[in-house]
Amino acid sequence: MSDFINEIERRRTFAIISHPDAGKTTLTEKLLLYGGAIALAGSVKGKKTDRHAVSDWMEIEKQRGISVTSSVMQFEYDGYCINILDTPGHQDFSEDTYRTLMAVDSAVMVIDAAKGVENQTRKLFKVCVMRHIPIFTFINKLDRDAKNPFDLLAEIEDELGISTYPMNFPIGSGVDFKGVYDRTEKRILSYERGDSRHEVEAVEADIADPSLDSLIGERNRLQLLEDVELLDGAGDELDMDEVSSGRLSPVFFGSALNNFGVEPFLKSFLKMGSSPLPRECDGGTVAPTDPAFSAFVFKIQANMNKAHRDRLTFMRICSGKFERDMEVYHVQGDKKMRLSQPQQMMADNREVIEEAYAGDIIGVFDPGIFSIGDTVCSVGKNIRFEGIPTFAPEHFARIRHKDTMKRKQFVKGATQIAQEGAIQIFREPDSGMEEVIVGVVGMLQFDVFEHRMRTEYNVEIINEGLPYQYIRWIDNEGIDPKKLNLSSDTKIVRDFKDNYLLLFTSEWNIRWALEKNEGLELSEFNKN
Ligand code: G4P
Repeated sequence: MSDFINEIERRRTFAIISHPDAGKTTLTEKLLLYGGAIALAGSVKGKKTDRHAVSDWMEIEKQRGISVTSSVMQFEYDGYCINILDTPGHQDFSEDTYRTLMAVDSAVMVIDAAKGVENQTRKLFKVCVMRHIPIFTFINKLDRDAKNPFDLLAEIEDELGISTYPMNFPIGSGVDFKGVYDRTEKRILSYERGDSRHEVEAVEADIADPSLDSLIGERNRLQLLEDVELLDGAGDELDMDEVSSGRLSPVFFGSALNNFGVEPFLKSFLKMGSSPLPRECDGGTVAPTDPAFSAFVFKIQANMNKAHRDRLTFMRICSGKFERDMEVYHVQGDKKMRLSQPQQMMADNREVIEEAYAGDIIGVFDPGIFSIGDTVCSVGKNIRFEGIPTFAPEHFARIRHKDTMKRKQFVKGATQIAQEGAIQIFREPDSGMEEVIVGVVGMLQFDVFEHRMRTEYNVEIINEGLPYQYIRWIDNEGIDPKKLNLSSDTKIVRDFKDNYLLLFTSEWNIRWALEKNEGLELSEFNKN
């Protein structure tokens, strides 16, 4: 195999998704520990120590104890080159997570063993299914009282509509948690209860070993024999084609906090997980091993590091090899360029990179030219990757600056934050930039917007909530929206490409607009 192909084949690019508090941050940290990427896993949140999770960047995350931004981390393990894309767990930032999921080749779903499938798991899971990427499940917190493992598997199958294949099986849970039975190796990794801040030693023992009773207790051993019989009796094979197409999820039980079952999980995941997948573009399918470089923008973030005051654009490389000083073509901007100081992220450290391959994520300094979904490729390639869908906002507010002297900063802040995709901004047809209408998918996005305007742009804003819940783009060309017959509580606005939209307070009003205006075409997504 050529070095080029090998570099691509050994890459694993994935995201970890979960309902908040299931243990995503903890698992991410343990994985990073194995890669030697961090010396000591930080306490997940700042409650117990001052050390914050390395993947938490913004101050507001620390305040709220939730991950707002998604971070990207790369490390080496066992000959693999791993890119983990962290995602915010809170549902108000789902849009960021959706975009991140567009950039990965597989997903790890963390489930709290006591809670099973939760709301946010369901939502995120749907996006993975849409993309047909392999999904691996880590059922976490076995050191606490857990639901019956068979019930958990059934819940995943019923609620998410995916088949499961337990790779290992837990022996007890909570105070009675003794370890897991590895179904492939047919051996037991036993769990020793200890201080939860320390790593737990995994002791290996054969299931036929007569000393097993002293290790896990007679009752547990008998239960395990029964469970294993049931599992093997079910006769399901681990069908890798089903795994690759996202229809069958290999399931692992463990405890991230106690570092139990994490390394075996990582090893299996790397072996079974997907190397970089082909991508669709306007001209067909692009193979990752296509020697021409191509990438798309899936995330833009300003001011990640306050000391730097910068704006970074994150691109997922879809094909070929990127070299530091190479000339590339920005398709949407129709410009040849060199990417400025291409970076790879290692937790909160950045490194300027010399080269990167399909599957990798690179961050580049961006003076404000890129938008989410843009394609960058080798000169002469000229392709466009499929766009990343924007979600229709469900909450709206009229936003103004308190201090009229701050107009310039207000415009700059609102525009930049909107370019990042953190909010969407609209204008009333005849108003300038003195005030904007901000639309968000989750209410917390307003708080982040306000916080960032204050801390990054030094602008205090006034937020006046608006009663609208639905947004529709007007598809008809050349229509004068002011001449439309609309209910009195429907509002006409423009987006920043000067498309007209309507804001509605109810679905009833949408129907009214369509009935009273023959030929009017409305759509939920921006097609431009
Ligand atoms: P998230 O990113 O999915 O939101 O979850 P996170 O890793 O922040 O974990 C949420 C809480 O669950 C954390 O507790 C974390 O220590 C705990 N946790 C993670 N994995 C395990 C596990 O395997 N076993 C146990 N028992 N707990 C685990 P916290 O925020 O410090 O809150 P608290 O539990 O101290 O109240």
